[in-house]
Order: sequence, then structure tokens, then C-alpha cells
Amino acid sequence: MSRTFYVTTPIYYVNDVPHIGHAYTTILADVLARYRRLFGRESGDTTYFLTGTDEHGQKVQQAAAKRGIDPNDAAALRAYCDGYAARFQEAWKDLNIGYDRFIRTTEADHIAFVREQFRKLQAKGFIYTQEYAGWYSTTEERFFGEDELVDGKDPISGRAVEWITEKNYFFKMSAFKDRLLAHIEANPTFIQPDFRRNEVLGFLRQPLNDLCVSRPKSRLAWGVSLPFDEDYVSYVWVDALLNYVTASKAGSPGDPNAPEWPADLHLIGKDILTTHAVYFPTILMALDLPLPKQILAHGWWLIDNARMSKTTGNVVSPLAMKDKYGADAFRFFLIRAMAVGQDASFTEDDFVKTINSDLANDVGNGLSRVLKLGETFGSKLEYRPADSVLPGTARLAIEGNKDVFSSLKFPRLEKTVENALTIFKGVNQYFEAKAPWKLAKGSDADKEELETVLWHAAEALRIGFTLLHPVMPGKMDEALAALGLTAETSPLEWRTSGTFSLTSIPPLFPRIETKKAEGASTGSATSAPSDPFAVLDLRAAKILSVDNHPEAEALYVLKVDAGDAESRTVCAGLRRHFSPEELTGRIAVLVANLKPAKLRGIESHGMLLAADGIAVGVDGRPPLHLATPEGAAAGDPVSAAGIERAPKAQIKIQEFDKCPLVVKNGQVHYGEKALSTPKGPVTAQAPDGAGVH
Ligand code: ME8
Ligand code: MG
Repeated sequence: MSRTFYVTTPIYYVNDVPHIGHAYTTILADVLARYRRLFGRESGDTTYFLTGTDEHGQKVQQAAAKRGIDPNDAAALRAYCDGYAARFQEAWKDLNIGYDRFIRTTEADHIAFVREQFRKLQAKGFIYTQEYAGWYSTTEERFFGEDELVDGKDPISGRAVEWITEKNYFFKMSAFKDRLLAHIEANPTFIQPDFRRNEVLGFLRQPLNDLCVSRPKSRLAWGVSLPFDEDYVSYVWVDALLNYVTASKAGSPGDPNAPEWPADLHLIGKDILTTHAVYFPTILMALDLPLPKQILAHGWWLIDNARMSKTTGNVVSPLAMKDKYGADAFRFFLIRAMAVGQDASFTEDDFVKTINSDLANDVGNGLSRVLKLGETFGSKLEYRPADSVLPGTARLAIEGNKDVFSSLKFPRLEKTVENALTIFKGVNQYFEAKAPWKLAKGSDADKEELETVLWHAAEALRIGFTLLHPVMPGKMDEALAALGLTAETSPLEWRTSGTFSLTSIPPLFPRIETKKAEGASTGSATSAPSDPFAVLDLRAAKILSVDNHPEAEALYVLKVDAGDAESRTVCAGLRRHFSPEELTGRIAVLVANLKPAKLRGIESHGMLLAADGIAVGVDGRPPLHLATPEGAAAGDPVSAAGIERAPKAQIKIQEFDKCPLVVKNGQVHYGEKALSTPKGPVTAQAPDGAGVH
């Protein structure tokens, strides 16, 4: 009997535009769904792939509030969410993601479903109320324990906290702890990889608290109202996790395409393991719903080995990568370079190397050769038997890929790619051994052998393209079309008959020329990319607010807008030189990619540039002059004349120190090169020769 494999991604918060992390999970799910469809062709098995957006809760309400949206203005919040949901949908379209449903937690059917589950939980006696008292920070919008406070203040923002007593609804999660432990122990593949399973087991061997599942509307208005108390909304995670059930027949009985509950596989990042492996299963148990078959936590993409964060500004945009190198190459690299479960580092350098070696050399090259040499035969290749290792190589790759789904504890898609690549490497070796370019110049017998060789190479390539089709659907469609086939008409087995009708196409994956020193071109205004200034990320930044550092007399804690999605915190030694009024609202120059550093307990994300005064100013304070990008807006790049910006994700202060900046004629210079933004010069009202740092 055929069945439907139900796979999900997390639903992403609409407080952020899609980044490489979101793209990875979604591409992983898409590639997996496509492989399952490919291997399910004969059995009739189908796959249902769900993704979507998580639109309620504190994070979303806060992000909207930053845009000036009132938490009680549901229509405005809805419009805000519409905008973000559309951005995710567009991104997934651009990356060739073929989901079956895109769920949004603000959809009426989901809200109704969540309320229904709350009603059930309450009817079954799993919900109770309790007063909670604690130190509440309105800035951070959360409670802190007495021991977490620093000098009686909020440890994160340093602001005052107040003692509040609040009634909330709790779910008796603790009542399900033993059952969950037993389930995990009896089902070794329920949580994967094993080391994550062990983490959850370790967590469950500690006492397990009940789960606070409500938030008073006075604090958080944007959520699903509780059916038994309209003054409260659901804790966002209960709302969010239930999306997986809403989209199934259990929640959408009228949808003929909806898959049965439970899901077969929840793909998640390691950051949300507890919610999926503890909260969700206990809620399902309380609702008498079966548990998902598997929760698979993948690792973290690090950017140039640092954690990706909006505050450091090293966020990799999947769409920028797609525009630069193509969606298929990007999908290929993400799947190939991360072993499912482990962390991996993303560098553009590695990405380009992978394109050049795996894609240009191996995958694309074989096809170019077959197409070119096939012209000898009017671009038609007839089958002739031959003694070749290629059928064996292809068979092993096919079997290896099937094994990824049948005999491993969890799907390791990096292995499917590795397997497929053996075919292309095999074709390259076959060509080296047979030297078809020599045969093409030889006797009639040689020509006959040439056709045999080309047919075999084409057949191997066909299988390779078919195996890579789930990873690179667009490019593999093109490749198969050049062989006269489509993915649907290309069987996953070695054939011993058939004709190839070839159509010439440009190289599938042109080599990417990497920047070499182009110093030879004398007179060029562009200096070599090795200039230490190139790696700096200097930007115009607007000072939004100025507070005293609670611990350090010389420091201000600034909030600045450097054109990122969120403002960042910068600690600056400006307190002896400027009043808060003099700074607030000003545009300055930020070294935006300086490695974040804790300054007396507060993490600073960057450094503002100022020029030394030479004389001693009024009331004995040494004057300091902020570098000012004239006419610039927050986020505008600052460059030095003739040096192409190539900022690293993160630099050390020593790297900044290699680039002495100095004032000349009221303008900030790097050596002889004046600093500017596209809007105008960077000035500093300091005497000539003043250092800028
Ligand atoms: O957590 N590397 O949403 P979210 C790899 N709404 N994957 C990453 C990543 C990185 N550096 N950063 C993020 C939420 N991800 C909730 C989920 S589900 C019922 C609710 C991926 O927008 C990874 O899949 O913060 C992670 O779990 C997810 O993005 C978190 O997305
Ligand atoms: Mg997150």
C-alpha cells in the first residue's frame, strides 16, 4: 500500500528576513522530499512537505513595535506579518522550494485548532492556574530570578525591574515525564542524532517543571486568545508547535491532500530541540495524539567560523548568494558542505571552490565533452555493448542513495551528494582512459568505439543527473534535456538500450574566476584587494540613544542604527567629551565588523570613529571630534578612494590598527586616500594630522 511521508521545517518567526539558516533547513526538507518522491516513483509513495511562518508572540510584537506598530492594532500587525510571510514565500520560490503547504499561525483554521486543543487540555484536567511572582523587566519583557539580577537591576539592559505578581495558566508537563522518557528509550531513532537524543534524556532525568502556557494580554496582546479566559493568549510555542498538527488531517480534515498525523520527520535546528522533543511530545500525549516518528536536529551554520548574528552583521543572505552564483549551486553547496547534525562554516571562498571543482569540473565537464564529441554522430548516440566499469559505479551510487533512506538512523543528505559525485568522477576517469578526443581523429573502427564510449558516458551522466536532480532541479533539468530526457523519463537503473538525442547547451556551471592580483594593469585606480583597509566594514551609523554605562565612568552605552535589521549596542568612551544631547541623532562612522567585546559587562558591537583634538579644551577635557559622513544615512558604506571594499565578517582590533587614519583639510584620510560615502566626504573638525580611532 502506498503511503505519504510527512516532513516539516520549523515555522520561521516573522521578525527577520530569510537568512542562510532558514534557507538550510528549508532546502534540506525540499531535497529530502524530492529524493523521497524520486525513490517512491515505483511504489507510489508520496511526500507531503510543510513549511510556514510563526507570526504570534513577543518577538513578533516587539519587532513590529520597532516599526511603530501598536501591539493592540491587530490589523496593522496582520499587515506586518503579511509582508514578512510574502518575503519568505518569495525566497523559497527563488530557491526552487516545492512545499505542499505554507502555513501561517495567524490563519483562522490554525487559531481555531489551537483554541480547540486548549479546551481539550483543560477538560482533561491538564491545565491549572498559579500565581507567579518575580522581578519583571519591562525593557526585556521577561522575569528574572533574584539571583540573576545585577545590583538589583535587569542583567541585560541594566534597567530597573519591578516586582510583579501574575496569574498564569500552566500545563501539567511534569505528569508526562516518565512516559516521554520511556518513549525515547524504546524508540532510539525518535530523536536524532544520538548525541542530541542523549541531551534530551539527560534533561529529562532532572526534575521537569510544568509549562507556563499563557501570557496576560496586558503584557502580550498578539497571540491566540485562550478559550477559557480571553484576558490571556497562548504561549507562542504551544501555538507554533501545533501548526504541524493543524496542517495534517487531524487539524484539516476537509483538506483532501492533508497528510495523516503523525508527521514522519520534523527537521529543526539544534536551537529548538527542547521545545520539539519535550514540550511538543508531552502536549501530544495529553491530547491523546500519536508522537511524530522522528525529530532530527541539524547543526549550526557558522559564518567564517563565527556565530551568525544580526548585531555583528555577518548574516548571509541566501538571496544574495542565489543572485551571485545561482540557486542550484547554492543548494548544492549547503547540502554538500554540512554533515547533517554537525555544525559547518560557510565561507564564500569554499563555496566558489566547490562550484569550480565539483560542479564545473565534475558535473558539467562530462556533459560538455559528450555534447561536443557527439557532434561526430549528428548528435545521436546509439547503444553498443562495451566492457566498462561505469554500470557498476552507477549501480553503487543508486544503491548508496537508497540506503541513505533505508538503513541509516536519519537521512544524511551529504552522503547522497557524495554518492552521486562518484559517477561524474567515474566518467572523467573513463574519458582519461579511453581518450575519446583521440578516437575522434582515428579510423572507422575508432569512430565506432568512440560512439560506444560516448553512449556509456551519457548513460552514466544521465543517472548522475537524475540522482542530483533533488538537489539541483533547475540545472539537472537542463542537463537531462541536453541528453534528450526529462527527470520523469529517466529511470534509476543502467539501461542496455536506447538512443541519446543530444542538444548543445552552454556549460552548466561555468568556472568562477577567483580574484587574483590584477596589479599588472598599471594606472588602474583600484589597488590590489590585499590592502588591509579593504577588510574593514566602515559604515555610517545613526546614534539612536545614549545611556551611561552602569559600571564604567568613561563609557556611554549607545544604541546605533547601522542599517542592519536591528539596532546594535556600542560602548563608546565618549562620556567625558559629549553630553547625551550632543550625540543623540548624530550620524557617525562605525567600524561595524569589529569582533564584539564585553566592556565592563556590556557587549559592544563595533566602535565609533573620532579624531583627537590637539589643544586642551574648555574645562580641561581633551576635545574629541566625531568623524561625520556628510549627508549619509544609516548603513551607507564608507570607503577609501580607490580601494574596493571587501569587508570580512569579523576583524580583530589589530586589523583595524593596520590602517592608520588621519585628518587632512578637515577630511578623514587613510594615507593619501580620502574617506567618503556615496553621499559625500567623511569630515572631522580637527586639526591636520590628528589621529582618528
Ligand atoms: O525558532 N544555522 O524560528 P526562527 C542553521 N519560530 N540553521 C539555522 C541557523 C543557523 N545559523 N539559524 C536559524 C523559531 N536556523 C520558531 C520555530 S517551530 C514550531 C517554531 C534555522 O525564525 C533552524 O532551522 O528563529 C532553526 O531551528 C530555525 O532556523 C529557527 O528559526
Ligand atoms: Mg531563533
